[in-house]
Amino acid sequence: MRQSSLVVVANRLPLDDNVAPDGACEWRRSPGGLAGALHAILEQTPATWVGWSGAIGEAPRLPDIGTLRLRPMSISEDELRGYYEGFANSTLWPLYHDAVEQPVFDRGWWETYRSVNRRFAEAAAEVAEPGATVWVQDYHLQLVPQLLREMRPDVVIGFFLHVPFPPPELFMQLPRRLELLRGMLGADLVGFQRPQAAHNVAQLAAKLLGAHGADDAITMDASPTAPPATHNRTEGQRIVRTGAFPVSIDVAEMRSLNARPYVVNQARRLQRDLGSHKRVLLSVDRLDYTKGIEHRLTAYSELLRDGLVKVRDVVMVQVAVPSRERVENYRGLRDRIEREVGRINGEYGRVGEPAIHYLNQPFDRADLAALYQTADVMVVTPLRDGMNLVAKEFVAARRNDTGALVLSEFAGAAAELEDAFLVNPHDVDGLKETLLHALAADPADLAARMKAMRAYITANDIHAWARAYLTELDLARPLVS
Ligand code: ADP
Ligand code: G6P
Repeated sequence: MRQSSLVVVANRLPLDDNVAPDGACEWRRSPGGLAGALHAILEQTPATWVGWSGAIGEAPRLPDIGTLRLRPMSISEDELRGYYEGFANSTLWPLYHDAVEQPVFDRGWWETYRSVNRRFAEAAAEVAEPGATVWVQDYHLQLVPQLLREMRPDVVIGFFLHVPFPPPELFMQLPRRLELLRGMLGADLVGFQRPQAAHNVAQLAAKLLGAHGADDAITMDASPTAPPATHNRTEGQRIVRTGAFPVSIDVAEMRSLNARPYVVNQARRLQRDLGSHKRVLLSVDRLDYTKGIEHRLTAYSELLRDGLVKVRDVVMVQVAVPSRERVENYRGLRDRIEREVGRINGEYGRVGEPAIHYLNQPFDRADLAALYQTADVMVVTPLRDGMNLVAKEFVAARRNDTGALVLSEFAGAAAELEDAFLVNPHDVDGLKETLLHALAADPADLAARMKAMRAYITANDIHAWARAYLTELDLARPLVS
């Protein structure tokens, strides 16, 4: 087995298999913030990515991507149910997103979550060279840092959570809270999107583990099975560094796409097909209940009902790529959204002039860039989101200083893109007003906002994120006294 000095461990590999129109199987970048963000920085770094290809059963053989080696993990049908659809996506995902849907606590899922985490840790231990850096990603693999520390005390371990970390009173509901906290704190550096998350973890570490928790470091007992440490012990203690590292996008990739003739022509064609004189409202999401798609449809539909927006002047494009379709909550959401889109089109559309274009399909990067260029108002309204890279992609995709970004206050991106039209998506009247405000905004105001947001993401792109995290991780090499 070839080993690497940098190992990334994430539930999903950055590739999805896709059947091309001619029937051939091809690999395509998987939708979702984590895969997109890491794909950009790892393509040119000698590293190994341990993850799942999305196929059930035996792991497929996968080609390297540039200098990046892929180490596919097999996932059985039972593991898929207990680990991925169950504990990760029906317990942790809703709980970590402010319980906007009720988390399910099913005692049967835990053992599978733990055993799959162990298999990922073993695979990472196998491909990490002595003293390697291992960077574990996201809520699916929260036990891996501690498991890996026990297997390979020589490696330096980072953990990054792409989703929000909930307030202590929500985390405390988790039946396996202690194991999950210890698992994550097995890392040398635990990174989050927002500083509040580090604060929440520090509070929990003090409460549940008797650790000394500050917002940038947690001092705790080195032994994972030891009883809670007393505050004054100095021997056998570990320091776990924590901090906020807001994830970003590959701004250079988006710029080079913008300049491609295909993208420019495609954007022109889209504008013509949507109606040359029409203002375009665009949303691009994984079809997920955290994204606030239903709130946004309600706001748009009421604007049409009240005659404040007319189908002859405005059109909405909702891209909603299928996601986690075997999880009950997601199927129900898709049904509700499709019914509502049908109702809105039935009620307000005209022949050859729908009120909403609904696209339930994956797009490649060039077609997404063309869509972003076509939008007059990008509408990003999650009820809770760790970051939301779509908002940043929209800003990077603009070729000039036009276009407005309507952005939920509950997306991590809102703390950085302060020049967006910020909105509380739970307040449908406020959302309607903000949409009207953005549609009517003065071009000079829009230009000033877009310039400021573009400058921000240019200086804080995905490479800056990886540099900041990996530099800090290097400083956090184990300190055991
Ligand atoms: P999340 O990580 O919750 O899915 P983000 O907004 O952070 O949300 O990231 C979504 C990523 O998925 C973005 O990079 C976006 O471009 C990509 N994406 C969203 N919709 C599609 C689609 N229909 N086809 C391909 N990629 C998509
Ligand atoms: C979010 C999560 C990622 C996940 C992605 C797509 O970005 O933070 O870990 O990969 O959604 O979801 P999926 O379940 O398809 O991997």
